[in-house]
Amino acid sequence: MEKAGRSRRRVVRGLIFSGAWAVLAWKFLVPAGRRASRAVVEVAKQEIPLEGALVFRESRVALIRSGAEVYALSLVCTHLGCTVNVTPQNLVCPCHGSVFNRVGEVVSGPAPRALRRLATEDLGERVRVLA
Ligand code: FES
Repeated sequence: MEKAGRSRRRVVRGLIFSGAWAVLAWKFLVPAGRRASRAVVEVAKQEIPLEGALVFRESRVALIRSGAEVYALSLVCTHLGCTVNVTPQNLVCPCHGSVFNRVGEVVSGPAPRALRRLATEDLGERVRVLA
């Protein structure tokens, strides 16, 4: 009786251990770009102003319309991670003053890299931002 209980515990421990390894292996071996993306924001395209931006501060995402193109930028500053403000002319980080142009490229530092462009999914009348 005691031997069967010990055996069962060993099997359960083995399953838990294997599951933990599978999760860790998936997290570290599968590149982030290949993992399933989740929707961060979904909005009707007509809500995005022409030559303007629709800002989702809580999600730290801006949907920008330039001509017929709609794209999404992460508002996470590439310097130290503050949330970037969107102005009519550009994007400005309130923490240390980095300035980005409307496509997210660095105009002036200290930010070392452009803002991250997020994947979007065209749903016809709507657009979905994925992260
Ligand atoms: Fe944006 Fe430093 S966190 S410039």
